[in-house]
Amino acid sequence: MVLEQRRLFFGANWKMHKIYQEAIHFFQILKQQKDIFQTKNEIVFFVPASLLCALKINPETQSFLIGAQNFFYEDKGAFTGEISAAMLAQEGISYAIVGHSERRILFQEDDQLLRKKVEKGLEKNLKIVFCVGENLEEREKNKHFEKVEKQLSSVLSNIVLKKSEDLIIAYEPVWAIGTGKNATPEQAEEMHYFIRNTLQKLHLPAEEIRIIYGGSVKKENIKAIMTGKNIDGALVGGASLNPEEFYPIACFQREK
Ligand code: PGA
Repeated sequence: MVLEQRRLFFGANWKMHKIYQEAIHFFQILKQQKDIFQTKNEIVFFVPASLLCALKINPETQSFLIGAQNFFYEDKGAFTGEISAAMLAQEGISYAIVGHSERRILFQEDDQLLRKKVEKGLEKNLKIVFCVGENLEEREKNKHFEKVEKQLSSVLSNIVLKKSEDLIIAYEPVWAIGTGKNATPEQAEEMHYFIRNTLQKLHLPAEEIRIIYGGSVKKENIKAIMTGKNIDGALVGGASLNPEEFYPIACFQREK
């Protein structure tokens, strides 16, 4: 599959931000930007769990794609505080993030757990945004490729994909998340190229899988970040909270 056929993917990762009224206000402003309905890009809003169903059923927000930031791998049971992939699927939620560095670091989610989540999410027909990325120390010690290779192979080896669009890899260097210091376009492209080769080695449809970049993406740097031919979109945190900041990113088009 050639580059132009990988549909660009832009995710808004709202993290633990916004109550219902704030979310509705966000979408009211966003809707004024007509490009948001005309773009061919896949744009998904990963909102707090408290908003998932409400946004899904509200006629004002129904036309937007809504995703979960996390789920648990069991279908149901005595798991206080958790939501399952099965529950998300039943509510019509068809996207979820797995393995964000904040969950890996703050909630001790390891590769073994993340593998179970990816398997279960795919089984329930969720499209999974699987996050990988090195920390600052690993980058400084030149261990970033090794780290990302391990994160990919321990979670994705022998994974069966029904469709290549069901898996999106987000490369998010931990040192770039929320710091205002994004990876340079060269650093991002170099890693995305490495990730694509690693996916190939794992017998996944590497040329078709979207690999998106995350870490201090803003409307001012999106054009530079998207110059790499292996960069198929972005996962956006801080800049996704404001519709005026997010829509120029989400509607990005490569120049022909
Ligand atoms: P940031 O977050 O854009 O605020 O750096 C990105 C992310 O954590 O997905």
